[in-house]
Amino acid sequence: MISEKEYRRRRDKLALVLPKQSVTVLFSGTHKTRSNDTDYPFRQDSNFYYMSGFKEDNAILVFIKQKKKYQAILFVNKKDKTAEMWNGKRLGVKKATKRFLVDHVYTKDEFEKRFKEYLVEKSILCFDFGLDYSKVKILKRYSKNIATHKDISPTIGTMRLIKSNAEIALIKKAITITKKAHHKVMKLNKVSKNEYQLLANLEYTFKSNGAYNDAYTSIVASGNNANTLHYIDNNKPLYKGDLILIDAGAEYEYYASDITRTIPVNGKFTVAQGELYELVLSVEKKIIKMIKPNILRSTLHKKSEELLVEGMIRLGILSGNVKNIIKKKKHKLYYPHGIGHWMGLDVHDTSPYKYAQGKEIPLQEGMVLTIEPAIYIDENDTSVPKKYRGLGIRIEDDILVTKDGYENMSKGIIKEIYDIENMHS
Ligand code: GLY
Ligand code: MN
Ligand code: MN
Repeated sequence: MISEKEYRRRRDKLALVLPKQSVTVLFSGTHKTRSNDTDYPFRQDSNFYYMSGFKEDNAILVFIKQKKKYQAILFVNKKDKTAEMWNGKRLGVKKATKRFLVDHVYTKDEFEKRFKEYLVEKSILCFDFGLDYSKVKILKRYSKNIATHKDISPTIGTMRLIKSNAEIALIKKAITITKKAHHKVMKLNKVSKNEYQLLANLEYTFKSNGAYNDAYTSIVASGNNANTLHYIDNNKPLYKGDLILIDAGAEYEYYASDITRTIPVNGKFTVAQGELYELVLSVEKKIIKMIKPNILRSTLHKKSEELLVEGMIRLGILSGNVKNIIKKKKHKLYYPHGIGHWMGLDVHDTSPYKYAQGKEIPLQEGMVLTIEPAIYIDENDTSVPKKYRGLGIRIEDDILVTKDGYENMSKGIIKEIYDIENMHS
């Protein structure tokens, strides 16, 4: 759990870099309609949550900074018996005042009136430029005389790059649940008939272990479906002799995990599948071993391209020399994405990859990123030896950068061919 003191430390830290004479506004998430009268499950806005720890909708966190000192003010839903009967309990002003270490808590109804007052004699308004338009309209209406509008999202994103011990513990808990889910389906692959049966077991394991939200929509992609990168239909029959790419991660207390394993339908890799799998696995392991403070993510990516291309030449998938193939981007057909991404409150954490000046941010202790090399070969790609066509293989782990190197937080989720083949229920 993240303590209220940690949330306050985050607000203090943000306030240090907020401009003088500024007002900063962070909005909670809003309910989104799925279809008539039904909503998607509510998910709090990550930046708002990072700064407040508050899980309800219809809330706003405001920072007012005159010179050095700042005030943090939280606006929350007011208690309302009828609304609470329909949509659930609200914390309300009284309890929120007790719980959150902010300077004031008011009801959301008071926001417009107070916001106007906060803006008097301020010259800068900070908010998240990624907001939906309805919220921007409120800000525009009252900030006509404010000269400068500043996007606060990159500043918070930079803070979110370095995870605290409490955050790392939550990510590890998410990974522990994800491990159970992947291991469960590795046992069920031999008896399941359809992608959705595996999906159901992933979801069952997540939810029954307290991860009631997925970090993203799971991908259970058998056979050539694995070559559709964002395949989420998850509804096709499983055929003996195919591989299944499973990219699924639990979210625990708002923190993500993001794990991919590729396993055979009937429990045994064919020789060709094994050749391609061992290539991706060896690259994944080599790249993970390179991780340490000060190395660049782009260095890891370039190395993964070189190693994958070398291997694909060896297997007769590509021909020519490594440099030329990469220069002409021929490998992009088979390895079109990056080596990995920041992970935290969002599976693709909204932290920057570059400093404002444009230079790349190197890895530092406390950062979390995924490593996910892959090879995708479409079933209709006649330029590739027949035995490899229709195979899509990705292996993905979640890595913490440590003082001297790295910790593979998901190393307990098996990925050696021998171990996958010997998973029995
Ligand atoms: N599951 C999303 C990704 O691997 O980036
Ligand atoms: Mn990923
Ligand atoms: Mn993934």
